[in-house]
Amino acid sequence: METKITEIADGIYRLSTYTPEIAPPAGFTFNQFLILGDEPLMFHSGLRRMFPLNRDALSRILPPERLRWIAFGHFEADECGAMNEWLAAAPNATPAHGQIGCLVSLADFADRAPRALSDGETIDIGAGKRVRFVDTPHTPHGWDAAVLYEESTGTLLCGDLFTQLGNDSALTEGDIVGPAIAAEDVFKYSSLNPGMGATIRRLADLAPRTLALMHGPSFIGDGAGALRALADDYDRRVSAEVRGTLGASA
Ligand SMILES: [Fe+2]
Ligand SMILES: [Fe+2]
Repeated sequence: METKITEIADGIYRLSTYTPEIAPPAGFTFNQFLILGDEPLMFHSGLRRMFPLNRDALSRILPPERLRWIAFGHFEADECGAMNEWLAAAPNATPAHGQIGCLVSLADFADRAPRALSDGETIDIGAGKRVRFVDTPHTPHGWDAAVLYEESTGTLLCGDLFTQLGNDSALTEGDIVGPAIAAEDVFKYSSLNPGMGATIRRLADLAPRTLALMHGPSFIGDGAGALRALADDYDRRVSAEVRGTLGASA
C-alpha cells in the first residue's frame, strides 16, 4: 500500500491510500487532509493500523510534531482510530471535535483533553486559513457527525458524504453524485433520517468550490449543486423507507 499526496486547494493536501481488498474489484480509498497554517490541522487521523504509512506520508509535507489540531467527522475507526498515535507523535496537538463527540467519546478515549467546538465555531489556524466546524448529526451517520469548512479556499471537508467505491483521480470536475448513490446502494452506510436532506442543503448554502471526500476524489466545481442533488436523493430514500414501513404495517 502507498499513500499518494495531492494539493487539492491552496495549502490543503489530500493523503490518499487505496485498499483494493475492500469492496473488490473496485476497491476503496481512505483520505486524510492536511491544512497548512501557523497551526497545521489534520482532518481524520486514519485507521490505527495505517498510522505508520500515514505518518510517513505526512512527513513528506511537514514534520508530524508540528501538527497543532487533529479533527475528524465522527467517532469511527477510519476517522479517528489513530488519534492517540498522532497525539503521541505531535506533543502540541489538540484533538478538536463537537460538543456531543467530546462528551460521549473523546473525554474518555483521547489521551489529551479535546477542544469541544460548538456548531459554527471557527478556529483561525493562521496564514489566512480559518476552519469552521459544522454539526451534521446522524448525517450520513453518527450522533456526533460534523464536517469542516475552510473559508479562504471554499473547501468543504465532507467526511463520509459522497462516499464512492474505486480509486478515481485525486481531483475531478465530473459527477460525484451518481457514484455516491451507487455506493449507498452497496454499503447502506447512511443513517436515513427525515432531517438529512435539510442538513445537507444547509451545507450547500456555503457554496463550496471544492468538496474534499474522505472516500473518493476531491471535486472542483459547483459544490452547492452536488450537495443539493445528494440531498434530493436522500429525501427520495427516506420517503421510500417511510412508505414501505407504513405500507407494511397497514
Ligand atoms: Fe463513517
Ligand atoms: Fe469514513
